[in-house]
Amino acid sequence: MKIDKVLYSRDEIEAKVKELADRISVDYKEKELVAVGVLKGAFVFVSDLARKLSIPAMVDFIAASSYGDSVVSSGHVLLGKKPAVDVKGKDVLIVEDIIDTGETLKEIIEEFLKDKPASLKICVLLDKRERRKVEVALDYIGFVIPNVFVAGYGIDWAERFRNLPDIVSLCEE
Ligand code: IMP
Ligand code: MG
Repeated sequence: MKIDKVLYSRDEIEAKVKELADRISVDYKEKELVAVGVLKGAFVFVSDLARKLSIPAMVDFIAASSYGDSVVSSGHVLLGKKPAVDVKGKDVLIVEDIIDTGETLKEIIEEFLKDKPASLKICVLLDKRERRKVEVALDYIGFVIPNVFVAGYGIDWAERFRNLPDIVSLCEE
């Protein structure tokens, strides 16, 4: 796969992340926010979002993967690393790069609910809405995107393109 075109430039992303961080900062003012990024794709998003929050927050990561080297979700979600923070009684915000079928977030939500957080909300940068198979309630959404394969800003294809500062769409070589 190769880069087709830039979907969102670094400046557009920065403005959107600021907007999300401002909303989150208001909503979690009196709460005990634990922002939990989903590795690996969300590592850039979380680091930008966390630094734009104007409230205290804990930051943690979990690992989930479903794609392997394919551009089609396998439908099997592998949950890896568990959060280090004890989320019981805390206000957990799961931070994900992109939601596609919804399978990954559904599994993650089920796992977290077992640990009895005070609240559980979801923040996604990209919502590939037309591909959804299972319903997931999203609380913060950056951009709704069409059904194209994207990469950059932490998001990969076969581990490539994660380091691009912009979000691009990919096409066949
Ligand atoms: P879902 O379980 O089908 O919702 O897939 C979500 C996961 O698939 C995300 O965490 C991404 O890692 C990956 N994913 C979905 N769409 C894309 C894409 O266009 N490019 C790269 N990864 C994607
Ligand atoms: Mg991801």
